[in-house]
Amino acid sequence: MKSSEIREKFLKFFESKGHSIVRSSSLIPGNDPTLLFTNSGMVQFKDVFLGQDQRAYTRATTAQRCVRAGGKHNDLENVGYTARHHTFFEMLGNFSFGDYFKRDAIHYAWELLTKVYGLPKDKLTVTVYQSDDEAYAIWLNEIGVPAERIIRIGDNKGAPYASDNFWQMADTGPCGPCTEIFYDHGAEIWGGPPGSAEEDGDRFIEIWNLVFMQYNKDEQGVLHPLPKPCVDTGMGLERLAAVLQHVHSNYEIDAFQQLIKAAARETACTDLNHNSLKVIADHIRCAAFLIVDGIIPGNEGRGYVLRRITRRALRHGHKLGQTKPFFYKLVADLVLEMGSAYPELAQNADRVAQVLQQEEERFGETLEHGMKILEAALAKDDKRLDGRTAFTLYDTYGFPLDLTADICRERNVELDQAGFDAAMEHQKQTARAAGKFKMNAGIEYSGAKTNFVGYDKLAQEGKVIALYVEGSPVQQISAGQPALVVLDTTPFYAESGGQCGDRGALSAAGVTFQVTDTTKVQPDVFGHHGELVHGTLTIGQTLEAHVDEQVRAQTMRNHSATHLMHKALREVLGSHVSQKGSLVDAEKTRFDFSHNAGMTAEEIRQVEDIVNREILANNATQAQVMAFDDAVKHGAMALFGEKYGDEVRVLDIGSSRELCGGTHVKRTGDIGLFKIVSEGGIAAGIRRVEAVTGEVAVQLVQNLTARIAEASSLLKTQPDDLLQRIMLVQDQVKSLEKEMNQLKSKLAANQGNELASQAIEINGVKVLAAVLDGADSTALREVTEKLKESLKSAVILLAAVQDGKVSLVAGVTSNVTSKVKAGELVNFVAQQVGGKGGGRPDIAQAGGANPDGLAAALASVTAWVTERV
Ligand code: ALA
Repeated sequence: MKSSEIREKFLKFFESKGHSIVRSSSLIPGNDPTLLFTNSGMVQFKDVFLGQDQRAYTRATTAQRCVRAGGKHNDLENVGYTARHHTFFEMLGNFSFGDYFKRDAIHYAWELLTKVYGLPKDKLTVTVYQSDDEAYAIWLNEIGVPAERIIRIGDNKGAPYASDNFWQMADTGPCGPCTEIFYDHGAEIWGGPPGSAEEDGDRFIEIWNLVFMQYNKDEQGVLHPLPKPCVDTGMGLERLAAVLQHVHSNYEIDAFQQLIKAAARETACTDLNHNSLKVIADHIRCAAFLIVDGIIPGNEGRGYVLRRITRRALRHGHKLGQTKPFFYKLVADLVLEMGSAYPELAQNADRVAQVLQQEEERFGETLEHGMKILEAALAKDDKRLDGRTAFTLYDTYGFPLDLTADICRERNVELDQAGFDAAMEHQKQTARAAGKFKMNAGIEYSGAKTNFVGYDKLAQEGKVIALYVEGSPVQQISAGQPALVVLDTTPFYAESGGQCGDRGALSAAGVTFQVTDTTKVQPDVFGHHGELVHGTLTIGQTLEAHVDEQVRAQTMRNHSATHLMHKALREVLGSHVSQKGSLVDAEKTRFDFSHNAGMTAEEIRQVEDIVNREILANNATQAQVMAFDDAVKHGAMALFGEKYGDEVRVLDIGSSRELCGGTHVKRTGDIGLFKIVSEGGIAAGIRRVEAVTGEVAVQLVQNLTARIAEASSLLKTQPDDLLQRIMLVQDQVKSLEKEMNQLKSKLAANQGNELASQAIEINGVKVLAAVLDGADSTALREVTEKLKESLKSAVILLAAVQDGKVSLVAGVTSNVTSKVKAGELVNFVAQQVGGKGGGRPDIAQAGGANPDGLAAALASVTAWVTERV
């Protein structure tokens, strides 16, 4: 049975049992920055189990794409070394949300496995949780599994509920006992039944896990019953396919065989059992789907997992001798294999290939070089690769550590992890020192943290606690000196979270310090950069700190609008949109986000409409400080990979909720007006939008209106009729051009008639070489043809000069072409005016760049023809 059929039969079976077929969710868990990737079918239903979300159905079934690479569940290192590990796999599952429970779940599973898929009953063994008598009795009495093949598994992992048969989503959250179904691959394979000493062998393989979600585990480890008991099951499609296709390794199933063949084709590898082909086949599935879901290769978080997977695949290609980009070509094969089950793959195929190709080109440059360095180090023949080399490969040549480790493992060489960590730490420290020096000119500060009061106030008294000139601490500064001032308390916002630092003034009687920027000297210490305009300033002095209100107000408008825009972009373009960077100042907001296509004018308009509606609703902004976990639970949009403290600030602006430390408007109405000014791509899969708000937006509209008014007056019409008027003018221009061309050619034709009389006769052949003023090459040709007709037996060369260039056409009547060839003549003349040409014996065309030589060239024609006729 083919994999696609297995998937189809699973979903159809549960549909026949009243389940709704629900689409696979994205690999990026929606709004859950605590989870790296979707790693099982239940992730999209997490809140439904907890009773925090409701769906239109109480029974669901899915084929869910899952990734277990990086984060808590990580199988990356095992890929290529075992028969059953993958970075990417498909989980088939059925779910009951307070509907059926143990009995139906077990009956359905047995019916599907034995009746629909036709597995022999005596090949199946099951496990239940130690104390789950209910499940035990169902297997024994209702299903009829013999007692010796129902195994109770207890808390054998050292802690309460730490058991293979007690499934927990995470340390806290939905959990419950489970029953697992194992397939016996036969006595010829080593291994024993679950719970036995040989259980790690490959003979008994778990194919299906039925979880009876019953509890919600709290931080203290106490289990509270869920509002309603639920069912969550998971069966790996690849494992089941191996059973149903009578093969032992997942890599032998149809879905993988096609990809392995494709990988062999692209790497010219003839050994279809080569491990590297398995790795490549596994990794193309993972990499492609991660890109489909909006990830692009990068240096942190999910982007780095994608980079590691991709680079590992490329290294295996390199090992097979492929030094050119090849990996991206497998996307087309993957689409053939999985495109119909996952239309989002087929739709994004071109972009996925493009992102991979870029990554291949980028890494291709350093892979070759890095491999040479690694080979040299490995040739030293000790059984250990030093950490420094591994770090150089990582830092300079872009070798993720697991890639280097993979190579070491192949060669039976140990990798000096401690040495690598030390080199990494050393580099971080050096970078920190350098960064400090650059940003804050080597400032050493050990005083108190800054008390920031700028969320509510724009003016506040503060005491000077440190002063720096060119990075060195001083006691006092005098007028005219640029310096950096640290106050104990300040309303000035220091640049962070994409929002630029405040400007303004620090003053006291006879003292003014103009602040041009505010940055963080240390994470909680703000530095005011600027110049002392009047007086002297001494440590200990009290100043009135005044933020430039206009600049701040405009910056806040842009920042709040950014939150609303982020939310609107997700509504209009899809939930794959996530922030990749932002910059907010008084002029504009610049927002980078993951999305694979340019936005249409309609989409831009929709985003503007949504944001402006939020502005008109004029809702009050709410800021609350709470524990990070609570914030995420309350649906705050957090950025994965961002570092948040235990306490975070949750901002509700209109209907958006984000974690943010920035300063914001009091009510959405304060934003005034929101207008997007540009949209474009900045890297594969990343778009950038710039937008303006408040006065700047009003000015933009005013400028546009003024320009339209000006254009209207130039075209002598009203703004409403402007488009029509422009179209009319365009039509007029077109018809004038047409008329002009007709006139030109008429004029040229007339000149042609006059020219006929200038021809001189040599041995019965009329010879004419002349300039036709104002003609283009078409006109030259037309006149030449006409002259051929009227002169009957003739050799003609016509020239015209336009914009410093010479056009030439030669014509010879057919009765003369045996002696004189137009192509040769035109070339002869062209060469004298800095050109070259040729063509047919009866008509030929050429050009030249040197009009100065034209007169002499024309004069030479008669002699040239005389020699030939
Ligand atoms: N959520 C369960 C698992 O992943 C079914 O095994």
